[in-house]
Amino acid sequence: MKAYLCREFGPIDSHKVEEIDNPIPVDHEVLINVHAAGVAFPDVLVVQGLYQIKPDFPFSPGGEFAGVVHSIGNKVKLWNVGDRVIGFKGSGGFSEQAICNEYNIMPLPESMDYVSGSIFPLNYGTSIHAFKQRAELQAKETVLIMGAAGGLGITAIHVAKALGATVIAAASSQEKLSLCKAQGADELILYSRDNMDKESQKGFSDQIKALTNKQGVDVVFDPVGGAYSEPALRAMAWKGRYLVIGFTSSIPSIPLNLALLKGCQIVGVFWGNFCVKEPLVNTANFKDLFDMFEEGKIKPFVVKTYPLEKTGYAIQLLAKREAIGKIAIKIRD
Ligand SMILES: NC(=O)c1ccc[n+]([C@@H]2O[C@H](COP(=O)([O-])OP(=O)(O)OC[C@H]3O[C@@H](n4cnc5c(N)ncnc54)[C@H](OP(=O)(O)O)[C@@H]3O)[C@@H](O)[C@H]2O)c1
Repeated sequence: MKAYLCREFGPIDSHKVEEIDNPIPVDHEVLINVHAAGVAFPDVLVVQGLYQIKPDFPFSPGGEFAGVVHSIGNKVKLWNVGDRVIGFKGSGGFSEQAICNEYNIMPLPESMDYVSGSIFPLNYGTSIHAFKQRAELQAKETVLIMGAAGGLGITAIHVAKALGATVIAAASSQEKLSLCKAQGADELILYSRDNMDKESQKGFSDQIKALTNKQGVDVVFDPVGGAYSEPALRAMAWKGRYLVIGFTSSIPSIPLNLALLKGCQIVGVFWGNFCVKEPLVNTANFKDLFDMFEEGKIKPFVVKTYPLEKTGYAIQLLAKREAIGKIAIKIRD
């Protein structure tokens, strides 16, 4: 079978699509014929050895994928050959076939296509966990989403709107903001892409305050970090919740007195560990998400798909900050 393979950590363009042996599932393993796999920022990091999880070599990145069960190990109880499924295991998806433990699989709803299913677990799972368990978001509260036109940002818009919040989307270009508007954002803020100096930071804070009647925003959803975090924290409402999600820009240092002055919480969000430590809550979250999907409250949105041969190119788009919206790799129809 063909797979985009990482044999050692290195630059994204050093990894290639290769022909390798088909895997054989044993024990609780399920072998899935992959139809599509979502591309996410962790793919940028994991192939360079910069991610917190380091899979054994050789590995294919691609932490989430959708497809059909091809064969099963002798201890598998939950799945049958032919089932339409979504797999999530941190890596393995940019391949014609992927092995997944039977407990890291969920059914693909009949009304959901493979491409939509392939982008469902990581970003929707993270967004609902962030808003429900970590921010305890209430209807009518205001949410600021940074990097809002990214893969995670778009799902955060969908989930925050489905939970009844008012959404302010912030991003670095008008094209990105147009997508956020089309995906449901109520208000938009354009921030600087390359020059987030003190003046730009103050301008960002001032715009957030202006959109919230000077009250500040109740919840910040921050997958970006860097010079964007402090001005967002400075524009929080009393008792706000600042969700630390990721650092596509860089890891910022924050003056802690701001948390005191705002009476606010700075809250870490780590969906991967949450799945391991609180599996039943995660399962309940996904029941809510699939209900929202069936009711038309959330609609997975993929801007563009690429064939397996273009996987490196697609990962590069995210690394270069050029992707607008979510991208997926389409491996078969
Ligand atoms: N905590 C968790 O459980 C969890 C779960 C899933 C993902 N994450 C993290 O969330 C982050 C976003 O992931 P994603 O898949 O949504 O990524 P993505 O699609 O590439 O979007 C990230 C956004 O970050 C912004 N950005 C700012 N500086 C950047 C830079 N130097 N390079 C690239 N992008 C930059 C870009 O928006 P603008 O240009 O508009 O600023 C971009 O649209 C990643 O750090 C990922 O690891 C965390």
